[in-house]
Amino acid sequence: MAIWVQEDKGIFHLQSKGMSYIIGLYNNYPIHVYWGKKLRHDGNLDGLPHLGVGTALDRLPQEYPQYGTGDYRVPAYQVKLQDGTRITELQYTGYRVLAGKPQLAGLPSVYVESPDEADTLEITLRDDYASLNVILRYTVYRDTDVIARSVELVNDGQAPLDLLRALSASVDFPEDGQFDLIYLSGGWSREGNLTRRRLEQGTTALQSRRGMSSHQHNPFAALAKPGTDEHHGEVYGFSLVYSGGFAIEAEVDAFSHTRLGIGLNPFDFSWRLAPGESFQTPEAVMVYSAEGLGGMSRTYHRLYRTRLVRGTFRDKERPILVNNWEATYFNFNADKLVDIAAEGSKLGIELFVLDDGWFGKRDADNSSLGDWTEDLRKLPGGLADVAKRVNDLGMQFGLWVEPEMISPDSDLYRAHPDWCLHVHGRRRTEARWQLVLDLTRAEVRDYVYNALSKIFSSVPIAYVKWDMNRNLTEIGSAELPVERQGETAHRYVLGLYELIDRLTGDFPHILFESCSSGGGRFDPGMLYYMPQTWTSDDTDAAERLKIQYGTSLVYPISAMGAHVSAVPNHQVGRVTPLSFRGDVAMSGNFGYELDLTKFTYEEKELVKQQVANYKEIRSLVQQGNLYRLQSPFEGNETAWMFVSDDQREALVYYFRVMAVPYPARRTLKVRGLNPDLDYTVLDSGEVFGGDRLMQAGLALPDIQRDYVSGCFHLKVQD
Ligand code: DGJ
Repeated sequence: MAIWVQEDKGIFHLQSKGMSYIIGLYNNYPIHVYWGKKLRHDGNLDGLPHLGVGTALDRLPQEYPQYGTGDYRVPAYQVKLQDGTRITELQYTGYRVLAGKPQLAGLPSVYVESPDEADTLEITLRDDYASLNVILRYTVYRDTDVIARSVELVNDGQAPLDLLRALSASVDFPEDGQFDLIYLSGGWSREGNLTRRRLEQGTTALQSRRGMSSHQHNPFAALAKPGTDEHHGEVYGFSLVYSGGFAIEAEVDAFSHTRLGIGLNPFDFSWRLAPGESFQTPEAVMVYSAEGLGGMSRTYHRLYRTRLVRGTFRDKERPILVNNWEATYFNFNADKLVDIAAEGSKLGIELFVLDDGWFGKRDADNSSLGDWTEDLRKLPGGLADVAKRVNDLGMQFGLWVEPEMISPDSDLYRAHPDWCLHVHGRRRTEARWQLVLDLTRAEVRDYVYNALSKIFSSVPIAYVKWDMNRNLTEIGSAELPVERQGETAHRYVLGLYELIDRLTGDFPHILFESCSSGGGRFDPGMLYYMPQTWTSDDTDAAERLKIQYGTSLVYPISAMGAHVSAVPNHQVGRVTPLSFRGDVAMSGNFGYELDLTKFTYEEKELVKQQVANYKEIRSLVQQGNLYRLQSPFEGNETAWMFVSDDQREALVYYFRVMAVPYPARRTLKVRGLNPDLDYTVLDSGEVFGGDRLMQAGLALPDIQRDYVSGCFHLKVQD
């Protein structure tokens, strides 16, 4: 039993291995009592200030706060009634405990494989005057400190209701005391910047209004007690399983109490709830860690790797690939592609990916999106011929697509100019010369489904890179009635999910990787359908240290595409050694993105070694437990390590960006090992105790140049 209910006292206690989350009832309001280290379920909670003691709503820690009845902090939801009023008051009507976890209709979510893994509490609330029922759902996993929350709003009256705001979760931290807000910010080619700032009285918002989760802010935030670091201290993580616009709002009130709400961005959102209709919010996944940020990340990694990602590739080692994008851009023909693949196959690479430019008349980024037929000028034998020639080399064949888009210069646009998102009477803003297809419309989704499934079923495709290269503008749909135009952005995401659910379900043998100009949609929603994501368009290894480190705060390594590219690097012009580029990329889901035919003999020999090495270590990298040892956001050095579940094997990666004159001798204290076991460093043969490696450290190489990297493979010998 993970949920304990004391009906007489109105207490709901959600308990996992190391965590308790307690909800109480006060005047029929569900109030927040406690979230933190595990408490005894039969312990006495009397005397907690907010339980059973009369207090104003504005001071009451709540579970799903409303606006209009005396709480002036940021609300979790707001509904407009037919009479124009926007005040509702939700009162408790009942509860239900279910074994396991129900799936969310039409939305991605974490799941269970057996009902024993988790229990779900449903708390039902009602506003009689509006005939609005609200179900708060909380799933608590038994063996991991996770709560998944979502909300369903149901109109059981005779008149329509308009949702103006419907967050997935809101948590009021009842004890006063400060928090640091930790989040991932950035921009295109600069994703995953780990940002930390002290919250003061007032409201801090992280959000995307772009119709996608965005490069600028990831749908994630953590609240950490001051002093919490990578390895120690309490931290509360919030991650939204959603790929569209979102909002995370943290408000500190006059009593230094913090409220954090997370969900769909209420900006430019409304949803008509006709009589009898219900609305399901996306899911927020909340993690508690008493072992700092590292503990929080390891919980997210395991959960997302094994209970969010689905399908054939979930537990499989991912192939090493070579992608032709930075090798050729749009300028290629079949022979050139096969030459790159042939070189790759000699070096042990397993998958060749044909990127943008293979369809329509796409010689640049200004045409043809939507016309998903091979360009026979470049590929005279079509895709099937290239795929066969790649397969004949002993490699798998992968293909890039950008199915959500339409180029104004395309046959599709000429035939269906109303198929893009647009607002009648307004201009259509192009970005990268393209418009966004209106995926709220079933006929548009069917077109994309048919065009792609024709290719996927006629060409031996093992991998698909699903790209999406612009934000949404003129967010309106020709199909939706006036009162539903505010639904367009969310309906777009629902349409996308329906489309990718169909395609990934019908082609289970294809490994899908999502991409949005790099990490513009690196979110748990996409990971539910596609087990990996292209982390960033910035392939410079020094930049990637930060991007991969930041992204790893939430997302598992198996999800993070990381490629070695050419020097000078195409994004920043930096020249780094191939060994450094290899070590950074091997810390993720490994591949190459350059013209291998241009490599020297020595470079090819090194690639051969890197590929062979990655095949040895990839299960540890992709499925091991990540410990971040040194942050690139704090200095010149970065270190991280991967430890096997049984603690008998570990890989420690160390990077120093700039040379330091006359440096001190350095050791690196590692983590996560068994202090009682002896580990052999495979390269040198030296043997050290786990205690010594963790307490006294591992001696770092003393090499005088920029861009130094090293990997220590530690193994307990039988
Ligand atoms: C953006 C992606 O992130 C790149 O890797 C590449 O696929 C281009 N799009 C192609 O247009």
